[in-house]
Amino acid sequence: MSTYHAPALVKEALEALQIRPKGIYVDATFGGGGHARALLAQLDKDGRLYAFDQDTQAEAQAQQVPFIRFAGFRFIRANFRHLKRHLRAWGVLPGQVDGILADLGISSHQLDTAERGFSFRFDGPLDMRMNPAEERTAADWLNESPEDLLQVIFSRYGEVRNARTLARLCVQFRQSTPFRTTRDLVYACDQALLSLPGVERTRYLAQVFQAVRIAVNDEIGALKDFLREATELLKPGGRLVVISYHSLEDRIVKNWLKTGDAEGLMTSDFYGNIHRPFHVVTRKPIEPSEEEILHNPRVRSAKMRVGERLNTKGEKASPAHLPVEKRHPQ
Ligand SMILES: C[S@@+](CC[C@H](N)C(=O)[O-])C[C@H]1O[C@@H](n2cnc3c(N)ncnc32)[C@H](O)[C@@H]1O
Repeated sequence: MSTYHAPALVKEALEALQIRPKGIYVDATFGGGGHARALLAQLDKDGRLYAFDQDTQAEAQAQQVPFIRFAGFRFIRANFRHLKRHLRAWGVLPGQVDGILADLGISSHQLDTAERGFSFRFDGPLDMRMNPAEERTAADWLNESPEDLLQVIFSRYGEVRNARTLARLCVQFRQSTPFRTTRDLVYACDQALLSLPGVERTRYLAQVFQAVRIAVNDEIGALKDFLREATELLKPGGRLVVISYHSLEDRIVKNWLKTGDAEGLMTSDFYGNIHRPFHVVTRKPIEPSEEEILHNPRVRSAKMRVGERLNTKGEKASPAHLPVEKRHPQ
């Protein structure tokens, strides 16, 4: 198992993608390349895998032997919200992709590297940028955001119970000394916890750090852009597989697969026809087995949803688009 990141639901994700050996695939969140490696093992020499990650450290992983040896593998260091633009540069156009996988959130490597500032368990700079070239760190965000925005983010992205109190304490804190380190945010949280007796400290800190991370990296905005672009890129019959770790993300993915809208709003054309972009393959999300959670507790909140791209009439792809073995079921 990679020390960089132990991926979740690998077997299930690969099955859901229904790999065609000569197909074109996208891994939108390369990380340590666990999913990518399993995917490459099912492609033949004509197959292609375009892997994205915005982190330079993930890029270094992609330069290792199992990946560079495969002629059809390309790593693209970019935000997955711009899939279309980058794939066009490689000659891949909308309607040509067989399958897209996104395993959202951060890798264990990012979380466990103190200098990245993602974890309350280490003393480090309050950074949290997945893309180190982005300008604004978590410290900048906490020092510059208005109090009401802090409150909304703590509440919406972290489900923090006393978001208002915490936001007020953050503003008080930065008036004396600006936020600089993870310890500063832990200190503000500890003050806020005084008004929440009985609340588990570790859970509270995890919720607050998660909320700040989601805001700093605009993870919700990026997810919505990704879903729109991925939908355009997939060919009819192509599969979209998304693994999320947060209820807000899971709701967006669920809504998108059902309706083609992040809020789940159905839209119809001039004649009142509703065109859904996907057939929902997973009515309920697929979750890791107890055994997987036992081996890798970090996957416990993972939820995987799968959609199959419908054609422009909202119908399933004709058998001609499907691999031979699917056309003639036994
Ligand atoms: C959970 S890890 C993926 C792990 C990977 N599936 C593996 O097998 O190792 C998520 C990765 O996605 C990347 N990531 C998250 N949001 C991104 C975005 N908007 N654009 C590009 N990469 C992103 C993170 O930098 C991180 O490396």
